[in-house]
Amino acid sequence: MSPDNVYSKAREVLQGICQVCPICDGRRCPTGVPGMGGIGTGEAFRRNIEALKGWKVNLRVLHDKKEQDTCLKFLGCTLPFPILAAPVTGTKVNFRGRMKETDLARAMVQGAKLAGTLAMTGDAPDPEVFQAGLAAIRQAGGWGIPVIKPRSNKEIIALIRQAEEAGAPAVGIDVDAAGFLNMVRAGQLVEPKSVEDIREIVGATSLPVILKGIMTVADAEAAVEGGAAAIVVSNHGGRALDHTPGTAEVLPEIADKVKGKIALLADGGVRTGVDVLKMLALGAEAVLVGRPLFIAACGGGAEGVHQKLLDMAFELQAAMRLTGCGSLQDISFSILKHA
Ligand SMILES: Cc1cc2nc3c(=O)[nH]c(=O)nc-3n(C[C@H](O)[C@H](O)[C@H](O)COP(=O)(O)O)c2cc1C
Repeated sequence: MSPDNVYSKAREVLQGICQVCPICDGRRCPTGVPGMGGIGTGEAFRRNIEALKGWKVNLRVLHDKKEQDTCLKFLGCTLPFPILAAPVTGTKVNFRGRMKETDLARAMVQGAKLAGTLAMTGDAPDPEVFQAGLAAIRQAGGWGIPVIKPRSNKEIIALIRQAEEAGAPAVGIDVDAAGFLNMVRAGQLVEPKSVEDIREIVGATSLPVILKGIMTVADAEAAVEGGAAAIVVSNHGGRALDHTPGTAEVLPEIADKVKGKIALLADGGVRTGVDVLKMLALGAEAVLVGRPLFIAACGGGAEGVHQKLLDMAFELQAAMRLTGCGSLQDISFSILKHA
């Protein structure tokens, strides 16, 4: 299926919800939350794009790095490239039921698996959402990471047991969903987590725990103190709180303080392999991609997701070659120039 066909199919399915723009940058979204855009004014979503745009890459072609190795070891898994699928859920609310939750979860998890990488799945007020993700992970032989809302510790630990049984290599909590209106309205508790809370969760499982939605040094340090295995520097694609900085703005100061103490991922506005390279140069070990892979799933199912991931991985390799990087370890801040 060509990218054009994937895009036109996705445009049909998402009519009135998402324009499926050639560059998904939050400027023309017909919907926010619920929907595909950012919360409130949409500023935090657009800021992710602007923050990445603010960094330019230095072209280097006179060097001896003739081969590019993009392999990554992440929490005990070997991935062919440092790109994972982000959790994107809530088909009934966000996509007006035009896609089944189970179909979306399967397309993301299977598409990522076909490409050799991992997908994360999500959670929402409707228990069907978490279960759809878990079912897709089970079907993929445990190859996927379920991300749980910051519910009560008791509920989180009960869901972690299900993730363990499904064979998942790690489990996540999107801690930035602590103020989500859809959860509150459905009478479901979500709350900020203290270091003690994190310690209790980490101590209750042998799985590595990933905290998604970290935007400050203080929270990153709290994650380290609580014993989390990884953090995702993320503002939920601009869907948690309006007017946050872009993730590429805060990533360097966070990496400066916690890199080496905890695995570091980032997401928000990653659209191309060059964006992946920029996030890695700013301190991330790997990135998550949300909307572009959702659109690929919508227009092309698992095969669409697979192809989009391979395209981004190829772009990353080309960008590494043209900035003098032979491996992920060669990627450093020095390849960037601030515009
Ligand atoms: C429609 C939609 C639904 C999402 N659902 C979840 C979710 O259930 N859990 C979660 O942790 N993040 C969720 N996210 C956030 C993504 O995982 C990710 O952080 C964000 O989309 C990254 O930004 P990008 O879309 O610009 O790549 C969702 C994002 C969108 C657009």
